[in-house]
Amino acid sequence: MNMAHNDRQMAALKTSEEKYRKMVEGANDAIFGIDPENATILYANQCAEEMCGYPRETLIGMKVWKLHPSDEEPQARRLFEEVVKSGKSYLREQHFVRRDGSRLTVDVSAVLISYGDKKLIQRICRDVTRRRLLEDELRRINENLERTVEERTAELKEKQTQLAQSEKMAALGSLVAGIAHEINTPLGALNSNNDMFIRLIGKLSDVLGEMKACGDLKANPELEKIFENIEKLNDINRTAAERIVKMVNSLRTFARLDKSEKDTVDIHEGIETTLTLVHHELKDRIEVVKNYGDIPKISCYPNQLNQVFMNLVVNACQAIDGKGTVTITTSEKDGNVIVEISDTGKGIPEEDLQKVFDPGFTTKGSGVGTGLGLSIVHQIVQEHQGEIEIDSKTGQGTTFRIILPVA
Ligand SMILES: Nc1ncnc2c1ncn2[C@@H]1O[C@H](COP(=O)(O)OP(=O)(O)OP(=O)(O)O)[C@@H](O)[C@H]1O
Ligand SMILES: [Mg+2]
Repeated sequence: MNMAHNDRQMAALKTSEEKYRKMVEGANDAIFGIDPENATILYANQCAEEMCGYPRETLIGMKVWKLHPSDEEPQARRLFEEVVKSGKSYLREQHFVRRDGSRLTVDVSAVLISYGDKKLIQRICRDVTRRRLLEDELRRINENLERTVEERTAELKEKQTQLAQSEKMAALGSLVAGIAHEINTPLGALNSNNDMFIRLIGKLSDVLGEMKACGDLKANPELEKIFENIEKLNDINRTAAERIVKMVNSLRTFARLDKSEKDTVDIHEGIETTLTLVHHELKDRIEVVKNYGDIPKISCYPNQLNQVFMNLVVNACQAIDGKGTVTITTSEKDGNVIVEISDTGKGIPEEDLQKVFDPGFTTKGSGVGTGLGLSIVHQIVQEHQGEIEIDSKTGQGTTFRIILPVA
């Protein structure tokens, strides 16, 4: 009875062992049976042979960690020993080195199983090399795509700012040109009338002098005082009128209607025009020192460069609390014209130096600065294939250096 029962049990065990072997042999993953005592491979299926490139005779008897690259052997060994000790399975991505030296990425799962009264470590290994390569490739493509989108967005943003700015400048240009024209006509009348007035007063004075000489008119100190005053007032009027004429001319230069035209110009003229326009900002507060060098005319968009000088000079003035100096230096070097605008203002903190050209970056508070000034400067200088540099020391001042190619 007992014998028959044992036989039946043995037969059942054999059949299930048979089934298990068939299943292992036909599997699409590499399967290894490993002796927990000495870590040698006891069996390997066909897929294991193909995966590692070794014939089964070589695999059997091999220490299991010899399948890994030598630098990963210690880790493979540790993992194996852990499974043996704890009986807990693991799933890990590891590497195999094939017989021909090529390297595979493999998902390895290891589990301790009981085999009759024996114990066995079973390792199932899936080759994921191709998948990993594809994933890496996909990640690279994704990163490239993200970078491209970022670059395109930045370009688009810059173009938008540029467009908004050139529209703004065009609008400002025609407004300024219109105003200059409007002022010019009555100014012409005032100027010629003033000249006439001066001449008439002169004549009147001559006539009165003759009358006095003939005794028709007694010497009248009050009348003389009136004449003196009239002359003084005339002088003041003339100076004021001259100033308005200069101002109007500056406005016209600034808003030159040929603004989209390239021209070969002396940029000292542009700087001078700008200084006239920002005169109100300078007043008695700021001394302007000009170190103009002997520079050639350069091919440029004069109006845009005026915009550059304007923004830099205004920034320089605004950086100075109370009294200070703005120095404008021009020179030529290696086929470039260099314009430096230095101030004795509060300087730019190190951490802001990278940001000052960002559109919208301002430290001047809302309503005071738009933070667009320097981003426009940057764009215009770039359009002229030029460069811009900043030297700044907090508490001492700042120098903006513009380097423009002559041709
Ligand atoms: N010469 C300078 N000295 C010190 N800081 C400066 C100077 N020029 C620019 N900056 C700093 O850079 C920031 C950006 O300047 P930007 O000309 O772009 O804008 P803004 O002057 O603030 O505004 P807006 O030009 O519209 O009036 C300023 O707010 C200021 O903090
Ligand atoms: Mg500014």
